[in-house]
Formats: sequence, structure tokens, C-alpha cells
Amino acid sequence: MLCAVSHKDNILLEAEALTKAFSTEGGSVRVLDNISLTLRAGESVSIRGESGCGKSTLLNVLSGLERPDDGLLRWQTEEVSGRSLSWLAGKRRDFIGFVFQAYYLAPELNALENVLLASRIRGNRGSEWIDRAEALLERVGMSHRLRHCTTKLSGGERQRVALARALMNDPPLLLADEPTGNLDEGTAESVMDLLLGLVSESEKCLVLVTHHPGFAARATRRLQLHGGHLAEG
Ligand SMILES: Nc1ncnc2c1ncn2[C@@H]1O[C@H](COP(=O)(O)OP(=O)(O)O)[C@@H](O)[C@H]1O
Ligand SMILES: [Mg+2]
Repeated sequence: MLCAVSHKDNILLEAEALTKAFSTEGGSVRVLDNISLTLRAGESVSIRGESGCGKSTLLNVLSGLERPDDGLLRWQTEEVSGRSLSWLAGKRRDFIGFVFQAYYLAPELNALENVLLASRIRGNRGSEWIDRAEALLERVGMSHRLRHCTTKLSGGERQRVALARALMNDPPLLLADEPTGNLDEGTAESVMDLLLGLVSESEKCLVLVTHHPGFAARATRRLQLHGGHLAEG
């Protein structure tokens, strides 16, 4: 018997009328102005926009790291607005892999330990997790630097460790904030192949903030953030 599959089934994230303003000395700046967005498994969405237009703020709000001033956010079917910090942290750990613009690696840990940390926080400690972390670091071309302290790595190498860490818990939603910004063209291409490959093979959803027009064009949906609004293009 055929089952009817609702188009709602593969929705990973729904944002409705999100607003976020920051107060500055010159007054309040509305960085996100009534943003609505639906993200589905199996799609890649690129977001471009001028420096300072709010791209990182948007990813922070979608990931629950910053609270919007107004609007609604759902992860799968769960309402995010109004949740405690511990609920947000617990759910985010399984649901979202975030590649931050500034990496945010633990400086006292080596590359392998940084990637392992993501699974250790969930209580996963067996050797299979070490194998997985090593395999991910190999996929991003970092197997020769497994035990290097991250403070001794170049910007591009840190970015690749951060990407391996984001993939460690196999989250359905990947938010990547300029993940190729510090990479040479060849490495950037292979990171993009990896990210887009995960979308098509594993039905993940990728949100990619990038300044690179060629990489943005490879996404299945292309958006621009301007004046607090998201538009196709
Ligand atoms: N915590 C904050 N407090 C005050 N202003 C902020 C804060 N975070 C970001 N902003 C401001 O919001 C705007 C958007 O920042 P951001 O999201 O980092 O832009 P982008 O990632 O597109 O370069 C900038 O003008 C920035 O200075
Ligand atoms: Mg940014």
C-alpha cells in the first residue's frame, strides 16, 4: 500500500518573522527584519550578502545561540522559542553541526581531541568514535595533523578541523559560516564537494554563508541577505 507523504515530513527548520536588532551608539540597527525561512532535508541553501549585513547573526539565531527579539523558530516539529539554555544545548548537539566563521576550537586540545569532544559531550567514549574522528579528519585532508595543538595550525587547517567536528555527530542540519574563507582554491573545492556530497548522499540540509559566487551557485537554493531581508538571487 502506498503511503501519502506530506511535504511537511522532511522539514528540518521553520523560521517565521524573525527579527533581531542590536543597539549601537548611533541607535538601534535591525539586522534581521521579519525573516521567514523553511529548510528541508536534501537541500543546500547559499546565503550571500555584504559584510556586516547579518549573515552570522542569522545563523546564530537559527541555531538558537542567539535569541531573536521576535518571531518563531521550530526545529523539526519542536518549538524552540522560550526553551532553556540546557534544552537548547542538548538538542543542538544532535541536530545542528555548526562551522563557525571564527572556528571556536578548544586551544588546549589537539585536532583529534577537538573533533572527539563533540561525541564525548554526548557520552560516547568507545574506540569506534576515535576511528570516526580520524576518518573525518582524513576526509578533510587533516590526517597528517591529528595530534597537532590547534593553536599551531594555520587558519585553513583550523577551519577543516572545525568542519570535521561539525560532522562528528552526523547532524541533519549543517550551518557553515564562510567555511572556505581561509582555504586555497583547491582545498576550498574539496570542502565544498564534501559538504554538497553530504547533502545529496545523506539527505542533510546545508546552509552555506559564502562570498564565493561559484560556490553559492552550486546550492540548490540561492538567497541574498540585504537590509534585514532575505531574497532569492
Ligand atoms: N552582539 C552584537 N552587539 C552589537 N552589534 C552586533 C552584535 N553582533 C553583530 N552585531 C552587528 O550586527 C551587524 C551584522 O553582523 P554579522 O551578523 O556579524 O554580519 P555578517 O556576518 O553578515 O558580516 C553588524 O553591524 C555587527 O556589527
Ligand atoms: Mg559573518
